[in-house]
Amino acid sequence: MSLKNVRLEVMQFLEKDVESLIEKYLIPIEKIWQPADFLPNSEGDNFFEDVREIRELSKELPYDFWVVLVGDMITEEALPTYESWLMDVEGVKQQDRENPWAKWVRHWTGEENRHGDVLNKYLYLSGRVNMREIEKTTQFLIADGFDIGTDRDPYKNFVYTSFQELATYISHNRVAKIAKSKGNKKLGKMCQIISGDEMRHHNAYSEFVERIFKVDPNQMMLAFYDMMKLKIAMPAHFLRESGNKISTAFEEFSNTAQRIGVYTSTDYVDILDKLIKRWEIDKISNLTDEAEKARDYLMNLPSRMYRLSERIKIPENSFQFKWVEPAFTK
Ligand SMILES: [Fe+2]
Ligand SMILES: [Fe+2]
Repeated sequence: MSLKNVRLEVMQFLEKDVESLIEKYLIPIEKIWQPADFLPNSEGDNFFEDVREIRELSKELPYDFWVVLVGDMITEEALPTYESWLMDVEGVKQQDRENPWAKWVRHWTGEENRHGDVLNKYLYLSGRVNMREIEKTTQFLIADGFDIGTDRDPYKNFVYTSFQELATYISHNRVAKIAKSKGNKKLGKMCQIISGDEMRHHNAYSEFVERIFKVDPNQMMLAFYDMMKLKIAMPAHFLRESGNKISTAFEEFSNTAQRIGVYTSTDYVDILDKLIKRWEIDKISNLTDEAEKARDYLMNLPSRMYRLSERIKIPENSFQFKWVEPAFTK
């Protein structure tokens, strides 16, 4: 049987549990938080006062902070790219409304959609950013798509999402901490609650991988190896500002996140290390020689990468983005 067919069979085998995993990891729509819970009520009498408070507190936050918040928001707003990508993964049958994997993707998308929504509205009200430039970047990013090297392979895609959900947990959580330290409790709470969603999603995708390891350990190991050897590309790796070429804004955005400690190259290795421990890579036995070698490579990778990450130097000065104009900085 071809590898592709085995993957399809594994996806079908796991399908029967997906409904219960939706219940375990996702929150019913009637119960989960909504963006409106964290934003001024535009029907209420206090609306203008609440907006004024957001604008006042926003002045306390530095330039790089806004760049990171904007980049995080744009990454969330590119959700159409992620949903269409996941719907195309082998074993996810979008045309069949009752297909449990398709249902997972739809429900996950519904939860994720609130992240870009709430951040976008907050940034708009803050008065600190150039919304039109941001909107152009978002449209460019969706139009440019992404290339994450997973193909339609569910194993590789679930490694990718396990990794990315944890990366977004870290970055939203750090943004929350910075906001709180500058006295902006509401923004802090908002970013913290987003990070909580990301953690739940991370746990879900990690469990998908765990279950695949149980039934197809060799191929799962090789898929994990392939993804890490390639290095996990960030979903916004094609980021650009208006007037510029594809991908030209990504490096400075990622430098900015690194400079303020929101997401660093050490975090990348920490995530890898966590995945290795979570999936108990060291304990998986009866592997083929090839998978055994892949496992050895993975086990040694964190220490190698920690050494490399220590040497990375980040420019000290802020990079000027069109999204956040210097006139608005303190
Ligand atoms: Fe998100
Ligand atoms: Fe997420």
